[in-house]
Amino acid sequence: MPPLWYFGLIQLAHVITVNYATINPDKDNCINYESDYHVDRACECIVYQSLGGTEGRFNSPNFPQFYSKGIECILFTFIGDLDELVEIKFTDFDMMYPDANNNTCKDYLRLFLKLNRPEINENMQHNYELCGSMSTLQQKTFYSKDRSLIMEFQTTRPLSQQLTFFKGFRGFFRFLNAKQFISDGVKQSGTMCSWDFSTSKLSGKFFSPLYPQNYPSHSKCQYTFYGQPNEGTVYIQFQNLQIYDEGVDSCSKSSDRIAIYDGMNSSQPLIKYLCGIRNQEEVKSTTPYLYIEFLSDGRNQRQGFAANYTFQHKSHSNSPSYSNPAFNCNQYIESKTKHGIIMSQNHPASYPASTRCTYIFNGTAEERIQIKFTRMDLFFDGGNPNEPYDCDGQDSIKIYIKIDNDEKELDYTCGKKIPKMFMSNIPWMKVVFESGSRTQHSNTGFAFEYKFLTNYGITTGEQDNRKVCKFIYKSDVKKSGYFVSPNYPGFYPKNTECQYTFFGRNSEVVRIQFKEFEVDGITPRCEPKDRVDFVDFSNFDGGAQDKKMKKFCGQMTEKMREPIQSDLEFFRVTFKSNSMYEGKGFNATYEFGEF
Ligand SMILES: *[C@@H]1O[C@H](CO)[C@@H](O)[C@H](O)[C@H]1NC(C)=O
Ligand SMILES: *[C@@H]1O[C@H](CO)[C@@H](O)[C@H](O)[C@H]1NC(C)=O
Ligand SMILES: *[C@@H]1O[C@H](CO)[C@@H](O)[C@H](O)[C@H]1NC(C)=O
Ligand SMILES: *[C@@H]1O[C@H](CO)[C@@H](O)[C@H](O)[C@H]1NC(C)=O
Ligand SMILES: *[C@@H]1O[C@H](CO)[C@@H](O)[C@H](O)[C@H]1NC(C)=O
Repeated sequence: MPPLWYFGLIQLAHVITVNYATINPDKDNCINYESDYHVDRACECIVYQSLGGTEGRFNSPNFPQFYSKGIECILFTFIGDLDELVEIKFTDFDMMYPDANNNTCKDYLRLFLKLNRPEINENMQHNYELCGSMSTLQQKTFYSKDRSLIMEFQTTRPLSQQLTFFKGFRGFFRFLNAKQFISDGVKQSGTMCSWDFSTSKLSGKFFSPLYPQNYPSHSKCQYTFYGQPNEGTVYIQFQNLQIYDEGVDSCSKSSDRIAIYDGMNSSQPLIKYLCGIRNQEEVKSTTPYLYIEFLSDGRNQRQGFAANYTFQHKSHSNSPSYSNPAFNCNQYIESKTKHGIIMSQNHPASYPASTRCTYIFNGTAEERIQIKFTRMDLFFDGGNPNEPYDCDGQDSIKIYIKIDNDEKELDYTCGKKIPKMFMSNIPWMKVVFESGSRTQHSNTGFAFEYKFLTNYGITTGEQDNRKVCKFIYKSDVKKSGYFVSPNYPGFYPKNTECQYTFFGRNSEVVRIQFKEFEVDGITPRCEPKDRVDFVDFSNFDGGAQDKKMKKFCGQMTEKMREPIQSDLEFFRVTFKSNSMYEGKGFNATYEFGEF
């Protein structure tokens, strides 16, 4: 049986939301055993527990207003599932600067990254202590070693006024499957981080030691690739490379670096050294073997690298699967062309520097524009391009919609992470691609598909013939099936209302069950006055509200997984989004019957 505190955590799991939440730290949330803990420490706690791959946002109390003085201790505790680890990324940071004399933080946020259990006591050594501003943070993304991570927030005692002039912090957290960071080769016995790769697996991945955490000091790792004799070559792609380079002009002088050799060992010809922050690097051997050495010294550890390899045949050519002969930078696209693909210039070769291309989509009244990226590879030097979170100053794509006739940014994206699928709220959308002055890069750009849709991406049921977002499900036509929010599994459009009505035969009722649910809001505050998106239910025909049915919003809970049954043959489900945050929406099954 799980310990008692475990049940408390399940309750708290709904704290996870797409909004910046008002946080409610409480002593009762803490899960420390009293024997481990000094009484007068008196921490309050906020717990984020993963239900498997959970993600969300966190922020300090009052954010973005100033935090108060004299916060004794708030523990932000993150607890992953088995085999998960925790990633936290700060997107805002604004705390009192360290004391000028001795450089120690007055208000501080301490990070405990190496915990076996989600508990700390006053004797435990933190791994990082943060204060100051976003620009003075050496590092903005942190990973736990195991399934737990704790942030301890403390501020100085009040002197006169209660408030400080600092906003605190906010960021994102994610629980990641730790197994994805295991290299695919065979570890050489007795070594910390040396691996052999053979053609028993023709392609795979490998990482710097401890990845995604920072590499340790004084690492010396060897990665040796043994391909097919005679015909073979080895092809390596670095997806993320962050190695401290102390500003040297050549990586051969850096004490943290990667060296790549065209053969089995370092007596073979050097292909290149790598260090610093690189977006994407490709290396090919000319021999069947490749040898990589990674070194670090005792100072300034960084995240390291993630890479993948493929053993190839010399004859094998990497022919591009799409080409883009008739490139047109600025386009105005009307709904005559119901769908199409747009690619960056020269795709899949690298795109030119200093360009700006604008694509405007304008449809007819009942149409919505759906765009789905299939390729995304833009130059990015602000960290891991697969997880970009600050696109300023980077090559980027912005997506705009209109709300009340004003253009509003729907998404701002960069790096190599394929964006979610989007849908416009009215028959208009704009996509703007901008590249900076960087001319030497090997990034291939982007490709996306667009569609002018009248069915909101909903393909089940029978749509109302006025082409509005109303869908009818009749027992006479189909006894069971599923229905989804608009644009599922992409983000649902803003300011959109969709109705799903169910008509059973005499004496039949309908049973609905949610399989997936992510709608902006926090249960149980799901009313329109809470300024959230929601799903509403009614047993009454003709638009009347059904007071006994609770609205749903937020993330899926155990309660929401339970079937919902209509009183009689008729039932209606309404989805409504506002002009603020959006989510993935829902997928629910329905079944008619005499239950
Ligand atoms: C740093 O200096 C301040 C005063 O300038 C003092 O209050 C504080 O205790 C010092 N901290 C350490 C760790 O020495
Ligand atoms: C180094 O690698 C080459 C082949 O790449 C091999 O012929 C040679 O024996 C190796 N030398 C040592 C010292 O292992
Ligand atoms: C590395 O992985 C990416 C994405 O899965 C893939 O497109 C690429 O071809 C792989 N590269 C190698 C060398 O295997
Ligand atoms: C969009 O298309 C409509 C006709 O479908 C047209 O009346 C309108 O002027 C167009 N808007 C723009 C901005 O071109
Ligand atoms: C919705 O869920 C059902 C049942 O799990 C599944 O069969 C269906 O493919 C899902 N629909 C979409 C669009 O993912």
